[in-house]
Amino acid sequence: MCGIVGYIGHRDAYPIIIKGLQRLEYRGYDSAGIALFDKDLKVYKKAGKVSDLENFVKDLKLEGSVGMGHTRWATHGAPSDRNSHPHSSGDRKLTIIHNGIIENYATIKETLLAKGHVFKSDTDTEVLIHFVEDIQKETGVDLREAVRIALNKVIGAYAIVIMSADEPDLVIAARKGSPMVIGVGQKEYFIASDATPIVEYTKNVIYLNDNEIAYIERDNLLIKNIDNTVQIPYIHELDLKLEMLEKGGYEHFMLKEIYEQPRSIRDCLRGRIYPQEGKVQLGGIKEYAEKLKNVDRIIIIACGTSWHAGLVGEYLIEEYARVPVEVEYASEFRYRNPIISERDLVIAISQSGETADTMAAIELAKEKGATIFGICNVVGASIPRTTHAGVYTHAGPEIGVASTKAFTAQVTVLTLLAFYIAQQRGMIAQSKLVEYLTELNEIPELVERALKSNDRIKEIAATFIKTNNCLFLGRGSSFPVALEGALKLKEISYIHAEGYPAAEMKHGPIALIDEAMPVIFIATKNSSYEKVISNIQEVKARKGRVIAIVSEGDVDVKEMADYVIEIPQTHEAFVPLVATIPLQLLSYHTAVMRGCNVDQPRNLAKSVTVE
Ligand code: G6P
Repeated sequence: MCGIVGYIGHRDAYPIIIKGLQRLEYRGYDSAGIALFDKDLKVYKKAGKVSDLENFVKDLKLEGSVGMGHTRWATHGAPSDRNSHPHSSGDRKLTIIHNGIIENYATIKETLLAKGHVFKSDTDTEVLIHFVEDIQKETGVDLREAVRIALNKVIGAYAIVIMSADEPDLVIAARKGSPMVIGVGQKEYFIASDATPIVEYTKNVIYLNDNEIAYIERDNLLIKNIDNTVQIPYIHELDLKLEMLEKGGYEHFMLKEIYEQPRSIRDCLRGRIYPQEGKVQLGGIKEYAEKLKNVDRIIIIACGTSWHAGLVGEYLIEEYARVPVEVEYASEFRYRNPIISERDLVIAISQSGETADTMAAIELAKEKGATIFGICNVVGASIPRTTHAGVYTHAGPEIGVASTKAFTAQVTVLTLLAFYIAQQRGMIAQSKLVEYLTELNEIPELVERALKSNDRIKEIAATFIKTNNCLFLGRGSSFPVALEGALKLKEISYIHAEGYPAAEMKHGPIALIDEAMPVIFIATKNSSYEKVISNIQEVKARKGRVIAIVSEGDVDVKEMADYVIEIPQTHEAFVPLVATIPLQLLSYHTAVMRGCNVDQPRNLAKSVTVE
């Protein structure tokens, strides 16, 4: 949450920063601001989106080749002009942008207030820059040292960039717990929360590590640890293409990403399955193949949509690899005293690879001696760098805040993992694997066919526009699909929606059913088909409106349901990958028809780097 961009070099900083903020807007969009060094240090900020900031400064001549910008997701202080970043020191000579939370800001603020500091905002960030100013004034140290001392005293998470009116050729960046990437150009450096604002200028990047401070000048980059030891940075080469960051003719990123799924699932499978040989190969975890033979239990930790993918993983791993699996919300797991042993395998799932609760849960499991695998999408993010091993989802950048292609890619990896573990433990016959992998290899095509129902789904969505509540029901591994369908609908269309195991409906939700209540069933022709039919009848008996996702050629459900959406028939193990598609399209069209901002739903952020 919150996006950070910075630049120092020989180009005009403003266009680089504003474009970078647009790329990072998925991280937060309730206010935005910039600071530029143009003869003097100038700050412009505004509540609202990056476009509001652009309008605000459009008649100004913004010059300067050093600058920084911020797009905010509010934590401390409501979204407003005065709480927007950058924040300045009392003497206005220093200015800061920040992503994260300074947990002990209240104590520091109290001390500073007693010394006469006056604050203009309600933020923890402003306290940090006053603190730096205060250290400089009290001790006479230079800015570099003052920042280092301050960071040694703050508790919490941060990615910060600081500029000073007295040192126009220096930018200071630091991180602990919030991401920060530095792009290395020719006598120029770029700073950003992720690589997307940097990719068109340079492919060479350094991922700053926790507790590192970067002192950046046009032709010099010095990275030191917070204890003042010099660090030797490793320069990575980015594997990111510019067109991946653009809408490519689609009205919204979400729609583009929904349509990318045949490709993203294929990319995720590439080089990992050998259907004719009945073999799964996962290079990122191959050193742990032995360990997997003797693992006692698997604990999956994740948040949001990634947690739903984890639930699908539980069905698949237990079914095929026969290892007990528990799926935990990272935010709950980290504050319990969970029982974890060295024989446990913990799998952290995260699209962004930056979610604060998932990171903290990993640290806890690591302390207790577990082996940790990561399933992440963003290459080089914090989670893949902290886990022992992992498998990337290779879905490509996901920009729509509501996760779509990242979810199906996570489910694809979990499917591969289930077969991989089954293979290591001798739980699956080679001939069976040949069958499963042959079918899995065809999933991208089936997803492509499922996308063809788009027009039909749009018609159904039109009947939803005035709905206030909605129920999604499924059994087995279609239950997490129902949860994910409900989450998609509520996050982008603001319709209250709940996902339930179909049979559990009788224990509560059935009381809600009347003529106005749409109930969406995942009713494909698999093992629980007959049972789901009974559940549909229970809803119809109470005059509920039934929308069913069915297998192509279905007759029985068609007779009962008000609307059906057909998807290609596939093996039970792969239903989540195909059945999710119409649910994504249903939420998308409903939200568009309700006039909602699909790519940037209110109050949400794509990367939740605060707990
Ligand atoms: C936020 C996003 C969700 C995402 C969740 C977990 O809530 O809006 O789309 O599922 O965070 O994020 P992660 O990056 O860890 O998968």
